[in-house]
Order: sequence, then structure tokens, then C-alpha cells
Amino acid sequence: MSETANARAAALPHLRDSGLAKGDPIPLPLTMAAIYHTPGDATGFDQYGRFSNPTWDAVEHMLSHLEGAPCVAFPSGMAAICSVFFALLKTGDRILLPSDGYHTTRALADRFLKPFGVTYDVRPTSTFIDGGFEGYRLAFVETPANPGLDICDIAAVADAVHKAGALLVVDNTTMTPFGQRPLDHGADIVVAADTKAPNGHSDVLFGHVASRNADIITAVAGWREISGSIPGPFEAWLVHRGLETLDVRFDRMCTSAEVIARRLKGHRAISGLRFPGLESDPSHNLARAQMERFGFLISFELASEDKAEDFINNCALMQAATSFGGVHTSAERRTKRGDAVPPGFVRLSVGCEPVEELWKAIEASLDKIGG
Ligand SMILES: Cc1ncc(COP(=O)(O)O)c(C=O)c1O
Repeated sequence: MSETANARAAALPHLRDSGLAKGDPIPLPLTMAAIYHTPGDATGFDQYGRFSNPTWDAVEHMLSHLEGAPCVAFPSGMAAICSVFFALLKTGDRILLPSDGYHTTRALADRFLKPFGVTYDVRPTSTFIDGGFEGYRLAFVETPANPGLDICDIAAVADAVHKAGALLVVDNTTMTPFGQRPLDHGADIVVAADTKAPNGHSDVLFGHVASRNADIITAVAGWREISGSIPGPFEAWLVHRGLETLDVRFDRMCTSAEVIARRLKGHRAISGLRFPGLESDPSHNLARAQMERFGFLISFELASEDKAEDFINNCALMQAATSFGGVHTSAERRTKRGDAVPPGFVRLSVGCEPVEELWKAIEASLDKIGG
């Protein structure tokens, strides 16, 4: 990681220090409260659980530190994405989405934005800039895209999007702020599912929106307050705890993914492997320029649906599960979720297990299914 990313990581566990009075607990207390003591003029105080909560404030402080921007926390990644669309778009707007990104974002546009008169088009991530952005109010990219792991040049896209008078939103879920900071490359808004690596223990859903534009933050925070799309304090507390070890977990996962991807690529049972960290990957040069790390996701194909299922289910150190970014290595055959990929397509999320043990388990399972 760069020096600045290391400095951010080092400061993260100490963010609370300056607010501590003698005798205060060092770890974050959990505040479960729907109401607060507010006699007289309540301005400037917590008033009601839908408006504010000290545990949200603490997790937002951490996220803001990592993103270098004000953040608003949400109860899931999709709630964060909804807040951006519903707070910033109006009837007649047109938006652009990735054709190969997380399928639920397209479902949201199709089922819930279209009836309000917000239309959308889709483009592949790798050629997202082609065709320009005239006529769009907002362009939304995911880089690397889940599950195919294509990437796009955030700075170049941001520049072209801004010339067309539109906003650029980047879903940074696959990277986390330790892997990539899209706002530094010119994006207007970051959305992320902290459900994944930031929480890291697969026991909570959470999300956030980050932006250096105060009007955007005000609009998104207003959406949260009025829609009631608020995170639970306990979930916020768990994510706060997860963020304290994100740097260590992310480092282990990315380092292991680099080892595993290289070995998988050489295995006879595997084809079409994608990992931005491999020199042979079409995304590699851009990934090197734009990303701090290459991430912990690897995608590849096995010969058939059955072989992919057997590989996942027979691997002793792999959970058969959707989602990614947890301490446990997990994998999923993505046609199960309706992604437009071949039946044997697998998305592998490398976890925190010691890498040589993990590789032995992966290799044994691959050898069992044959080439
Ligand atoms: C890239 C991406 N964005 C957003 C989401 C939505 O996150 P959540 O499940 O927390 O709503 C996901 C979930 O898998 C995702 O992969």
C-alpha cells in the first residue's frame, strides 16, 4: 500500500482518541436509542432514532476517514444505491449502468425507477466510455465489475461524464477504500456494500455513500431521514469493529488472491480466468495505475455446471455461498443468480485462511473433478 494509505490505516483505530474524557471506554460504546433526553430547545442534540445515532456517527467518522469525504451510512449496499437514485434523480432523467455489474442495480432501475419516468441504458464496463455521456444525468460504474472483473478508467470516465454535465457514481464494493479511492480519480459519489470486506465477518448487511459535494451529502442524508432507510445501531457497531481490522484482512486476502490466481491460471481444469493482478489480464495495466491492490476476487470457468458445483462443494476450505469479502473463502456459480455467464462460471472470494493450506484444499478439489 502507498504511504498515504498506510497512514490512514494507522490512524483508523485512534479516531476516537481526541473525544475521550478520563474514564471513558476506549472501545466504542453501543447506543441503542429511539429517543433522547431533550427538554426545552433540542437543536444541536440527538432527538430521535431516525434522525441520528452516536454509533452511526462513529462508523461514519471511520468511513469518512477512509474515503477522504463525508459519508452517510445505510442498512445495506442496495439502500445506499437507492438513496443516490431517489435523492438525486427526477422524472425525465436518463442514467447509464454497467451491463456486467451487480444485477440488482439494474433490477432497481428496471422495476422501480422506470415507473417514475427515469430511463436507463447499459454498457459493458470495459468499454463504458465509448459512445460518450450526452443526455445522461448520471453514469454509474462498478470497477472491477462483479462478477466478470472487467475494469474501466475512472479518471477518463469522470472527465467525459463531467463534460456532458452528468454525475459519476462508482460502486466500490469489490475494492474497499484500501484498494481504490474513486473520489480521488474524479468520481462525484462512491457507493459501497460494507456487507462485504469492510464488515468482513458475513454477519451484517451495511452500506454507505461518500461524496465531497455537500449538496449531494445533504440530499442523501435527507433521503435517509425521511425514507427511514436507517442502519441499526448494533449493525453499525459491528461494522465499526470490522473496520478496525479491514486493513489486515484486506492485505491478507489480496496477497493470497495473487498467489491463488497465478496457480489457478496454470491448472488444466480452469479456463477464462480473470484477476486484474495477473500481467496477462486485459485489465492489468489500468489496474496497476488506478488501484492500490488487485482485490480478492477471482473469476474463472470450469467445464460444466456440475463440475463447478462439485469443485465448490467438495473444497474443504470453501463456503458455497453468495456474497464475498468475508474471512471465510467462499465461491458461487453465478448463473445461480442470473448473471449472463457460462454455466461453469465461478466467482471465488479469497478469505483469510493461510494461503498454502487454502491452495492445497483448492487444488485437491480441482484434481477431484478432473480436467
Ligand atoms: C457490487 C455490489 N454492489 C452492491 C451490492 C449490494 O449490497 P447489499 O447486499 O449489502 O445490499 C452488492 C451485493 O452483492 C454488490 O456485489
